[in-house]
Amino acid sequence: MNICVVGSGYVGLVTGACLADFGMNVVGVDKDHAKVEALSRGKVPIYEPGLDTLVQKNMAEGRLRFTTNLAPAIEEAAAIFIAVGTPPKSDGSADLTFIREVATSIAQHLNGYKIVITKSTVPIGTGRMIEQIIREGAGSKHKFAVVSNPEFLREGSAIEDFMHPDRVVIGTRDERAAQMMRNVYSPLAAADVPIIVTDVETAELIKYASNGFLATKISFINEVAQICEAWGADVEVVSKGMGLDNRIGPKFLQAGPGFGGSCFPKDTRAAAQIAHDSGLRFRIIEAVLEVNEVTQKRMIEKVGQALGGFAGKTIGFLGLSFKPNTDDIRESPALPIVQALVDGGATVRAFDPEAMTACKPLFPTLVYTKDAYEAAEGTDAVVIATEWNQFRKLDLDRLRKLVREPLVVDLRNLYEPAAMAAEGFHYVSIGRPEGIPEARPRAVAGPARAAGGRS
Ligand code: UDX
Repeated sequence: MNICVVGSGYVGLVTGACLADFGMNVVGVDKDHAKVEALSRGKVPIYEPGLDTLVQKNMAEGRLRFTTNLAPAIEEAAAIFIAVGTPPKSDGSADLTFIREVATSIAQHLNGYKIVITKSTVPIGTGRMIEQIIREGAGSKHKFAVVSNPEFLREGSAIEDFMHPDRVVIGTRDERAAQMMRNVYSPLAAADVPIIVTDVETAELIKYASNGFLATKISFINEVAQICEAWGADVEVVSKGMGLDNRIGPKFLQAGPGFGGSCFPKDTRAAAQIAHDSGLRFRIIEAVLEVNEVTQKRMIEKVGQALGGFAGKTIGFLGLSFKPNTDDIRESPALPIVQALVDGGATVRAFDPEAMTACKPLFPTLVYTKDAYEAAEGTDAVVIATEWNQFRKLDLDRLRKLVREPLVVDLRNLYEPAAMAAEGFHYVSIGRPEGIPEARPRAVAGPARAAGGRS
């Protein structure tokens, strides 16, 4: 089957490369000449494990190519995947300008039955809008069907997620389109991946509801962490105890500095806006967003309290990306902390395995270092903001000799407080008692502090 994927950003590239690997004949289209030129040489502009190899392999085998020329790509395709950006507008709703442009082009070049599939996260009603644009532009000469096929890819494991998804969601009212989509995903059906076929609006909502629910789990555990801190309890054990209940499950219960990235913040704001536009309120999602903001602010307070203020301090800052295995810093919870440190007059010695290039234009005054140890040299505290594997097994002996003050503020709970204290570090983490060297007793907090604690 000839497939056209419009938009060679993150979702489009992964979709195109994986569909080519399923044996489809794929052309990726993008307006950006430089990007298409680089991709045509097998150069992938984003960091995603395994993506460059998959792109190069499928290009070499003749199933994947890239172009800026949308018209012939539409004409030759039986299935057109739309994977263009839907950036947030100031009110949090998704900007559908690029989707409208693609739909208009499809209408102009419709030369036979085609299915038009939305892959980007789009608000409910986008499928109907695309259908209307194509019908008005193309008339009734050729038939077409609109399909919602939301992606559930996580950055850093996108290929794995595409090849081994928990489910595939296909939303369409057209039986022929559903059959074509089943055909596209037949390698996954053969591997017993559940395929849900439903209507367009239900499919669109599955994506928002899923991301909203996952974000809810994160904000939930982040509030639990705060209560743990007030009572000297351990959020890691609370999380484990909750997760062993099959009805809850262990995933997405890792307390941390708040969720970031290109999806959760954007999609939760859009979900709240969708409800608002429907004359409703998505109160839980509104609370999830508020908790996330408070959590991020709390991280700044936490670092400030541990350090006793920022002015004149030197901080080793480990991790800038919003999560490991990506160079993506969009809405990374690390950034407001770095900003506060810089604004507060601290010197920041930063290291991230992939995200420093992206960070340099935003924070030109940081001292960017070659590894975690260089970042720690002469510092008053080391802050861990992203759970890169490189930061999980640091040589603590070496670290202690490099720092000025043995203080570690770990916003990802990578170490055990008692073990860190035994290594001579004052260790501050999320939702757990502090590790304090030489058994300096920590004041036991009681309900009075809980009641008057931070909110
Ligand atoms: C997410 C969804 O998982 C994916 O299905 C969707 O298609 C896109 O959005 P992604 O943004 O790549 O994927 O990353 P994810 O691993 O889900 O993490 C999102 C954020 O939540 C990160 O900031 C991460 O640090 C945070 N997180 C995640 C937690 O704080 N705790 C957790 O337990 C899990």
